[in-house]
Amino acid sequence: MDAVNSVMSIIHSSVWSLLVVVFFIAYILLSKGNQKGYFISHQIARLFYVLMIVSGGYTLFYLTTLGDLPINYTIKGILALWLIYLMEKILGSKKRGEFEGRMSTYYWVQFTITLLLVIFLGFGVIFS
Ligand code: HEM
Repeated sequence: MDAVNSVMSIIHSSVWSLLVVVFFIAYILLSKGNQKGYFISHQIARLFYVLMIVSGGYTLFYLTTLGDLPINYTIKGILALWLIYLMEKILGSKKRGEFEGRMSTYYWVQFTITLLLVIFLGFGVIFS
């Protein structure tokens, strides 16, 4: 494991849980009408997206240099990008007052399933 990869792994494994927490904080603040708090937490979530994509992308690239492209982590990376899209979609729709009824249920179910798959694939609980 090279030095850059160690740093990327540390970033990846420490930031993912912070991202999930900050996303929920942004959603709750938005629901309570706290625009300033929502704006700050959403910007932090966006910074965390970048850190997750760069660190995950690098780790995936590093693993491919050791052998074949790991299919489980490739699927995981794609699902993680979808998860980021869902976070943006949920916050954006909520901000515009469109996140209601069946639409919100549809996105929360998708969010929960995708998050669980990303975590289980990341830790090798499934498909390792
Ligand atoms: C919302 C975004 C993401 C979340 C929540 C997330 C979550 C996780 C988790 C929980 C793990 C296991 C952590 C650990 O071993 O300590 C992991 C590992 C991993 N993730 Fe992500 N991830 C995200 C984005 C990405 C992206 C965009 C990619 C690739 C393009 C990626 C590639 C990887 C790889 C290759 C591993 C295995 C690391 C290793 O074996 O050291 N992840 N991820």
